[in-house]
Amino acid sequence: MKLKVPATTTNFGSGFDTFGLALNLYNTFIFEEGDAFGVEIEGEGKDLPKDENNLVVKVYKRACEVFGVSPKPFKLKQVNRVPTARGLGSSATAIVGGIEACVKLHSLDVGLEDKIRVAFEFEPHPDNLLPAFVGGFVICVQNGKLTFNKLTFPSDLSLVFAVPDFELSTEEARSVIKREVSLKDAIFNIQRASLFVSAILTGRYELLKTAVEDKLHQPHRAGLIKGFNRVLEAGYSAGSYAVFLSGAGPTICAITPEDKKDRVGNAMREAFGEEEVKVDLLYLKAVEEGVSEA
Ligand code: HSE
Repeated sequence: MKLKVPATTTNFGSGFDTFGLALNLYNTFIFEEGDAFGVEIEGEGKDLPKDENNLVVKVYKRACEVFGVSPKPFKLKQVNRVPTARGLGSSATAIVGGIEACVKLHSLDVGLEDKIRVAFEFEPHPDNLLPAFVGGFVICVQNGKLTFNKLTFPSDLSLVFAVPDFELSTEEARSVIKREVSLKDAIFNIQRASLFVSAILTGRYELLKTAVEDKLHQPHRAGLIKGFNRVLEAGYSAGSYAVFLSGAGPTICAITPEDKKDRVGNAMREAFGEEEVKVDLLYLKAVEEGVSEA
C-alpha cells in the first residue's frame, strides 16, 4: 500500500492558525508487511527516527489503539520530498500518513472527525493537518469540533518558496509570539484575513499585499529569520502579489502571477544571499486533493 500526502503552507500572514493550503509537493509512504516495524528514508529528513519512534509508526500505533484494532508490523519506505522543519507541513504529512495507514491497512470506516482527533494528539494546529487530509484552501476553526470550509485556490496563482538551509521548529517559532494582543491589532488581522478570502474569491489579486499584513506572529518571528524584511521587499519589487512567512517559517512564500515566478524566486534568493543564507527555490501550485493512495 502506498500513500501520498501533500505539503502545506499556512497562515498567509494575517490568517494565523486559520488558513492552510495543500501543495503539489508530496511525501510518499510505502507500506509492506513485515515481522517488526522498520523504516527506510529516501530524500528529505534522512536523520528522522527509523525505529518505533518514527512519527508515522507512532501515529499508526496510536490510531490502532483509538480505532480498536491490533497493530500489524510493517516495513515503511518514506520517499520524502517535503523539507523538514521549514514551515511546509512535513510533520503533518507523517501524522496524516500514519492515520490513513491504519484506516487503509485495516479496512476501517472512520470519519474525518475521528481522524482529526487522533492527529491533534500529535500536532494541535489544524491548519497543516486539514489541507493534508482534504486538499484545497482550508479555513479552519478550532472549537473542539470539526468546523472548516474548503475553497478552491485560484489555479492562475503561482507559489514560490524560498527555503533556507536551516531548520526552525514550530515550538521555537511559537515561543517568541506574544500571548496577549491589543484590540487594535486583533482588528488589524480580522480586516486583512477577511480581505484575503474575498480577494481570492473575486480574483482581486491587487488586494493580496494588504491582505497578508500581520501583527500577530510575523513581526515576532522576523527576528528568527535573517533577512526576513529584505526578502519581503525583494519579492514585492520583483512583482509578487503577496509575500509572507510559510507556516512557522523559516521558509518565505510569494504568491505571483505565472510569468513573474522566476524573477521573484531569483530576487528572493539574492536577498537571502546578501545575508549569507543559502536557499532552495520551490515553484509550486495549489492542489485540490489531500492524502490519496498512490
Ligand atoms: N499556524 C502554525 C504556526 C503552523 O504558525 O505556528 C504550524 O502548524
